Amino acid sequence: MKGFFATVFLWFPLLFFAYSVNAETCLVCHSAMTGKVRTEKGPFIELNIDETRFSKSVHGGMDCTMCHKTYTNNPHGSPAGEVSKNISGLANLISHKVKTDPLAYASCVECHEDIYKSLSESIHGKNIMEKKEKDGPLCLDCHGSPHYIMPVSSEESLVNKWKVVSTCGGCHEKKDLAEKYKFGLHIIEKYNESFHGKKHKLGHSGAPTCVDCHGAHAIKKWDDPASPVSWEKRTETCGKCHKGANKKFVAAITHKPVGKDNPIPFYGEKGLIILTAATLIFVIMHVALEIYADIRDNVFRKKEEPHD
Ligand code: HEC
Ligand code: HEC
Ligand code: HEC
Ligand code: HEC
Ligand code: HEC
Ligand code: HEC
Ligand code: HEC
Repeated sequence: MKGFFATVFLWFPLLFFAYSVNAETCLVCHSAMTGKVRTEKGPFIELNIDETRFSKSVHGGMDCTMCHKTYTNNPHGSPAGEVSKNISGLANLISHKVKTDPLAYASCVECHEDIYKSLSESIHGKNIMEKKEKDGPLCLDCHGSPHYIMPVSSEESLVNKWKVVSTCGGCHEKKDLAEKYKFGLHIIEKYNESFHGKKHKLGHSGAPTCVDCHGAHAIKKWDDPASPVSWEKRTETCGKCHKGANKKFVAAITHKPVGKDNPIPFYGEKGLIILTAATLIFVIMHVALEIYADIRDNVFRKKEEPHD
């Protein structure tokens, strides 16, 4: 009997601790609740967490509170535990982009530090953290819901070889973003029409997608020398698959809009416009001269008639 009490006494706090942070605790409500609610910030959020999908995901073994660090009480009590400065600082930098829990979003850095760093220094991360815009992607814009992330190799991953083009396309196809940030229109269409895109569509796993040329997390502006598609690095990048690629070869691939940086099609197109205009002017002049000749002939004939 003494033993029993000792056991309960000793284990009860531990049981309570385990109870208070276990994913099950949160799922009691969140796997049963359906529908969306509006947050203070405005957007609708999904309250339901599909327990099966969560447990199959890469983070399925985690407790909810490993990300939702301030939701440690049941259900959502006062902040418990200290949140590291690293995470709270990052949460501040991204909070304008996050619908519900910036701390949870920043907590990815705890386990994926290098990736978070690469992203922060990329054109995408800077769009959010430096420019304070919301248009660039953070983790979940590419990986989908934080609760159902699958390994990159899985068919269900949004960034696997066969889905990543449409994931990038989700933004890079948008006309308003292309105009705002001056990147080329119809990039996805142009990719699909390229040798690479056609091979990719046919299921050729050796054909490059966006990520093979631009990288995934450290994406830079194309003319930044650190970008794998800058002139400085391009031979190396194409050379991964095309042995001995040289400057002339690497100029073959472009989805840039026609402009001064892309001179051959630029002047090619200029030439075509001049040629078309010249032809038109020639045709018009030809017709005009013929009409003039007709009139002149008629006048002459009229004048000559009395003499006949
Ligand atoms: C007793 C039921 C219940 C439990 C248990 C519960 N929640 Fe909730 N949760 C809710 C309800 C209801 C809402 C939506 C209403 C609200 O909070 O404004 C919500 C909303 C949320 C949100 C959206 C943001 C917000 O604050 O509205 C998050 C994130 C969340 N819960 C996480 C958790 C985590 C993590 C746990 C486990 C520690 C948990 N919840 C446990 C009922 C519960
Ligand atoms: C790997 C980190 C991580 C884990 C583990 C995690 N969440 Fe989340 N969760 C997030 C992030 C990040 C957001 C904020 C998404 C946003 O605002 O865009 C979020 C948002 C939510 C929301 C609001 C719905 C929404 O779509 O924004 C609820 C509710 C929620 N989580 C509940 C839970 C529950 C319950 C668990 C455990 C079963 C859990 N989370 C586990 C990272 C996580
Ligand atoms: C612009 C889209 C994009 C964003 C934003 C993004 N990822 Fe990724 N992520 C990818 C792609 C694409 C892959 C697959 C890489 C490959 O095929 O080589 C990947 C792979 C991964 C992997 C596994 C493979 C690896 O590279 O180690 C992890 C882990 C990961 N991402 C975490 C994150 C985290 C954490 C964030 C936010 C800090 C993030 N990602 C933001 C696109 C993105
Ligand atoms: C407590 C640690 C932890 C946190 C926090 C965490 N992850 Fe993970 N993550 C992992 C582990 C462990 C794996 C599985 C690694 C593996 O299978 O190689 C993983 C896998 C991933 C993968 C798939 C990697 C692959 O190999 O395909 C992505 C993507 C990812 N995490 C993104 C995120 C994002 C986004 C967040 C924040 C919302 C986050 N993680 C938060 C530990 C964490
Ligand atoms: C074979 C390599 C390759 C692939 C695959 C590729 N790109 Fe590019 N990308 C380039 C090069 C090289 C540039 C440099 C500018 C140029 O010449 O078009 C560039 C430039 C860009 C630019 C900035 C310049 C512009 O025209 O706006 C964006 C945005 C871009 N790529 C997005 C994508 C997306 C999204 C995908 C996937 C659908 C993709 N790229 C696939 C090589 C590639
Ligand atoms: C959530 C929307 C979004 C997603 C998803 C996204 N991007 Fe972007 N991307 C942007 C925005 C916005 C910019 C411009 C940011 C700026 O200039 O501040 C940009 C810039 C770029 C640039 C630099 C363009 C230049 O002028 O050189 C490249 C390259 C690029 N993205 C490639 C990709 C690739 C590859 C993917 C998929 C792995 C991807 N993006 C996914 C929104 C997105
Ligand atoms: C991930 C590997 C990979 C990368 C990186 C890559 N390519 Fe390719 N490329 C291919 C494959 C596969 C084909 C189709 C080959 C075939 O049909 O024989 C191809 C075809 C081509 C072709 C058509 C002519 C030919 O040789 O078959 C050109 C031109 C080309 N690539 C140029 C480039 C340029 C320029 C770059 C860098 C900006 C580049 N590639 C990067 C894999 C790649």
